Amino acid sequence: MDINVLEELNKKGFIDEAIDPTLDLFEEINKLKKEKNAVILAHYYQEPDIQDIADYIGDSLGLSQEAAKTNADIIVFAGVHFMAETAKILSPNKTVLLPDLKAGCSLADSCPPHLFKKFKEKYPDHLVITYVNCTAELKALSDIVCTSTNAVQIVESLPKEQKIIFGPDKNLGAWVAKKTGRDLVLWNGACMVHEIFSREKITKLKERHPNAKFIAHPECEEAVLAMADYIGSTTGLLKYTINNEAQEFIVATESGIIHQMEIANPTKTFIPAPPNNNCACNDCPYMKRNTLEKLYLCLKNGLPEVTVPENIIVEARKPIERMLEISASLGL
Ligand code: 13P
Ligand code: SF4
Repeated sequence: MDINVLEELNKKGFIDEAIDPTLDLFEEINKLKKEKNAVILAHYYQEPDIQDIADYIGDSLGLSQEAAKTNADIIVFAGVHFMAETAKILSPNKTVLLPDLKAGCSLADSCPPHLFKKFKEKYPDHLVITYVNCTAELKALSDIVCTSTNAVQIVESLPKEQKIIFGPDKNLGAWVAKKTGRDLVLWNGACMVHEIFSREKITKLKERHPNAKFIAHPECEEAVLAMADYIGSTTGLLKYTINNEAQEFIVATESGIIHQMEIANPTKTFIPAPPNNNCACNDCPYMKRNTLEKLYLCLKNGLPEVTVPENIIVEARKPIERMLEISASLGL
C-alpha cells in the first residue's frame, strides 16, 4: 500500500480525497457496490443518507446476524469500530471496510482489556457476559456476548446459581439485574451519549406533552429509565413506535433512530429527549464520523480496512457464536 495513504489513514482515520461535486454519490456507490460485490450494513445511528443507501439497517444483533450470513466479498460497515470487528470475526475471509477508522465508542473505551482481565481474575468462579459494545480483545476474554435485544434472555438462559460478571455497561447491567432478579457483578463502564439525558428536562417535556410516550434505551441511567413507558434496544424502540397507538414519542437514545421511526410512522411525532446541556450530545460523535462521502471513498479505494489478529478471531468468535446460537433458539 502507498505509504502516504497509510500515513493519512493513521492520522485522519479516513481517505481525504477531493470528490467531483457534480457526482451523484448514491448512483456512484450503487455502481461500485455491484462492481465489487459489496454489501453496506448500517446501524440505526448513522446519518439518514447512509441509512437510505444501506442494504441492511439494524441494531447490533441484526447486524451481527447479517454479517454472519452475507455472500458479499466486501462488507462496508457503516457503524463503529467494534461492530466492524464483529463482522470480521464472523466473516474472516471477507474484506471489512469502515468509512472512518476513528469511529470508536466511549463505552468500548471505558473497558480496557488489560484492566478487565485483572477484574475477572478476582471472580474465578464467575461466567463473563459482555455487551457487544466492546473491543474484540475484550470479547476474547468473555464466555458469552450479548446485545441490548437479548441481554435479559442470555442471562436467563444460564442456571440461577451461576455467578456472572457483566460488562462493560453498568447501566445495561443494572437493568438486566433488575429484570432477571440476578445479582450481577458489574464493570463500571458507560456510554457518553446515553448518560447525557436530563431527568429534569424530560420531566418538563413530559408535562408539555402529556400524551407522549417516553421510550429509552437501557444504556441510559437508572433515574431516566425509571421514567420510561418502554425500555428496549433500537429495534425494540422502533417496533414500539409502530405498535403503540400514541401519536407522540419522546426518544431517549441516539437521534439517528428517529429517521426510521419517521419513515415507519409518517403521521407520528418524535421528540429527541433533551441532554443536560445545550449541545447536540445525543448525536454519537463516533457514529457520526461516517459520512456519505467517506463511504464512497472507502468503497472506491477498498480502504480503510478493519483487521483483527488471528488469535483474537479464534477466541472472540466463540462467545459471539454462543450468543447467535442462543438468540436463534429463542427466535430472536
Ligand atoms: P442497539 O442498536 O443494539 O440497541 O445498540 C445501541 C448502541 O449503542 C450501539 O452503539
Ligand atoms: Fe458507543 Fe454510545 Fe456511540 Fe453506541 S452511542 S457507539 S455505545 S458511544
